[in-house]
Formats: sequence, structure tokens, C-alpha cells
Amino acid sequence: MTEKPVALIVLAAGQGSRMQSDLPKVLHRLGGVPLVGHALATGRLLEPEEVIVVAGHGAEAVAKAVAKLDPEARLALQEEQLGTAHAVRQAMPLLKGFEGRVIVLYGDTPFIGEETLANLASHAADVVVLGFEAADPGRYGRLVTGPEGLERIVEYKDADEATRAIRLVNSGVLAADAALLREFLPRIGNRNAAGEYYLTDIPELARAAGHRVEVVTCDESETLGINTRAELAQAEAAFQARARARALEDGVTLSDPATVWFALDTCIGRDAVIGQNVVFGPGVTVESGAEILPFCHLEGCHVSAGATVGPFARLRPGAELGGDVHVGNFVEIKNAVLDEGVKVGHLTYLGDAHIGEATNIGAGTITCNYDGVGKHRTEIGAHAFIGSDTMLVAPVRVGARAMTGSGSVITEDVPDDALALGRARQVTKPGLATRLMQALRQKKGN
Ligand code: UD1
Ligand code: CA
Repeated sequence: MTEKPVALIVLAAGQGSRMQSDLPKVLHRLGGVPLVGHALATGRLLEPEEVIVVAGHGAEAVAKAVAKLDPEARLALQEEQLGTAHAVRQAMPLLKGFEGRVIVLYGDTPFIGEETLANLASHAADVVVLGFEAADPGRYGRLVTGPEGLERIVEYKDADEATRAIRLVNSGVLAADAALLREFLPRIGNRNAAGEYYLTDIPELARAAGHRVEVVTCDESETLGINTRAELAQAEAAFQARARARALEDGVTLSDPATVWFALDTCIGRDAVIGQNVVFGPGVTVESGAEILPFCHLEGCHVSAGATVGPFARLRPGAELGGDVHVGNFVEIKNAVLDEGVKVGHLTYLGDAHIGEATNIGAGTITCNYDGVGKHRTEIGAHAFIGSDTMLVAPVRVGARAMTGSGSVITEDVPDDALALGRARQVTKPGLATRLMQALRQKKGN
């Protein structure tokens, strides 16, 4: 075992033509985030010094997504996709001065495990290839091994019948010292069946120069690469199955696991209870003991201990629920902080708002936060009572312990302890309802 600094190169320049898509393959979503986010997230666990993503097809869109997923990752451009060795070469200038182990990953291969990567990082050999025993070796590169480890990799297109019979195949993941890559990458040619610069030529070249080249194996399930929509759907199912199993192991109650959908970074505390048909988009944390009732959609939000949400609630990015908050049915919350004990039970929209402790929001309340051009804030103090069907026309502030009358349109700030009414005064006409009905019936002729 050695402990060398690590750099990651994630190959993501291919078009993925079999996806039949205008979107670059690595931007299709898996577990709520772009595919390339999975390799980046696992790779980050190794605490690499450098992370380089090689982009080509749709590079601008890929760059944007990567900047969000991993702001410290850098981009190398591969204008023409001339093969995996050519792709890695485009990244090498960004690793100038880096001495350590380089691990090459594919952006379209999301399930390589942390332990597997750690094995590659710390392996004593000069070049390590991640292989696996394939149930169906299909078109994978074949690993030709001998008494001293890996002799060479033969691409399917270039393999004869005997070589094609080998079931130990190349996952595509490779680790090698930076100095070795600098030496051998420029020596790789493209005289092969595909006319491409194959990264898989590295083992044979390195071995011929006396370097130690080995195979590390992993389970086939880790190496699943995505080339088609069908494989993407299959990968999503596999991802969800694992996420559900992990949540159950972590002590989360899932009333019907098969109907709960997780994102890559969903984080749920022990003894939280998640009802049927709940969907977690990216960026959700739910603390211990919170309860999410059936049919909720959550994204980019935080739910504190003791809170209850739903059924049929939607928490959008920036929703932060304090302890013991209650959010009921048909409530939408976006970019709003609800302090401890706030109750918002029914049919409400709270956007760009701060609601103070223990305040009650009546049914049908709406923060009118958008004027067609800009967004505006609503501030409500602690222990306030917002009457049902209040329209809060932002920017507006309702003080602590203040009240608004039901059906009010609140356009001006309400001081602490005040009651605000912003509605037409009621007019009552005795007997008029019956007289009006009779007149209408007469007119119709009965
Ligand atoms: C590659 C391996 C093969 C292995 C298989 C595992 C080579 C030559 N072959 O074949 O041994 O069994 O992966 O899936 O490496 N890419 C670029 N730029 C390029 C070419 C590829 O960024 O110029 C990226 C692709 O976007 C993709 C990855 O590299 O994410 C692999 O490329 P792909 O063309 O799919 O390689 P395979 O033919 O599958
Ligand atoms: Ca492939």
C-alpha cells in the first residue's frame, strides 16, 4: 500500500449518440443529478488534489453543470473525440507539476465504489486497471493476464476468437502515476480497427518498459456504463434500490420503499418516517424524527426534527423548516425560513419569506412575491396570526403578535401587536335573497 497524492480525470467528451438526444450523455439525470456528478462525488471521497473533466460534445453545457456539481473541478476541452488516450492527453497540461497517482474515470459510469477507487489509488503497481468478470463480455476490452499480472488489453474490434473468449474485461477505469502517463501517452498511435488513440494501449507499453502492471477487480454491478435510455432507466432503478436499502439500514422508516425516490445527496436522519410516494430532488436534508407524509415533493430544502410535512406538500429550494413546524396539504414553500413551531396547514404559498416562531398561517394564504419583474420579501414576526385567505403583497412586513383578518389584501406593513383588515366591509340586506330568486324564476317563466 502506498499513499500518494491523487488526481482524477473524468472522461466526458463523447456524444453518446445511442441516447438519441440533443443533451450530452453525461448531463442526463440519474438520482436527480447529471450522470457525471456520480463519478465526481465518489472521486471526491479520495480527497484528490486535482479533478479534471474532459469535455467535448456540448462542452459549454457540461462546463456549466460541472461548475455547479464540483466548483473546484477544472475543465479540459477535447474538440475532436479521437479516443480515450487522446482524451486523457488533453487533461495532462492541467496536471503540470503534479506527481502522484492519476485515476481515469468515465463520466457515464456512475457506480464505481469508493472502496474500489481507494484500492486503485493505493495499489503498489505502476499501472492498475479495474477489471471484472463479465456475465456477458460483449464488446468490452479483454484483459490478457499472465503470471506477472496484466500483459495487455485487447479491444473487442481487434480481438481474435480466442481473445474474445476471455471473460475478464476492462471497466475503463485505470490508475497510473502521472510521470508514466506523461511518458507513454504520446507514444500511443491509432493504428487499430477503430482508428482511435486507445488508452488501453498503456498497459502493454508500460510493461514492455519494465513497469509493473496489475488488474484489480470489482463486482460487475459497479461498472455499469450508460449508453442508451434503456440503460439509463435500468441504472436509475439500481440507484433507487440501493438508496432505499441504505435509508432502511440507517434507521429511516419507509412505509412503502418502492415508491420513495431519492437523489444522490439525500440525507435523512434516523427515525424519520417517510410515507408513500415521496420524491426527493437534490439537496434535501431531513432531520431525525421528522415525518414526511405521502405524496410530497422536496428539493433543496431542510426539514428539522419534529416537523411534519404533507400529505401533498411541495418544498422547493431554500425552504427551511425549523423544529416542530407543521406544513399541511397543498402547501408550497420556496426560499422561505419557517422558525420553530410555525403552522401552515392548508392551501398556501410562501415564497421569499421569513416566518417567526409559532406563527400560524391560515388556509389559503399567499405571499404575492412576484410583480412580473422582480421578487420581493415577506417578513412575519413571531406569534403572529395570519387569517385565512390573506394576500401578502410583498415587500411587506407583519409584526410580532400581529393579526390579519381573513380575506385581507395586505399591502402595507403591520406593526407588532396590531390587527390589520384589508377587505370590503360586509353589507347585509334582509330578505333580499328570496326576493331575488323569485324574480329570476318569474323571468324564466316558471
Ligand atoms: C472503452 C475501453 C474498453 C472498455 C470500455 C468499458 C478504450 C479504447 N476502450 O471502450 O476497453 O471495456 O470502455 O466501458 O478505452 N471518451 C472521450 N473522448 C474520446 C473517447 C471517449 O471523452 O475521444 C469518453 C466517452 O465519453 C466515454 C468514455 O470515454 O465516457 C469511454 O468511451 P467509449 O467510446 O464509450 O469507449 P468504449 O468503446 O466503450
Ligand atoms: Ca462505452
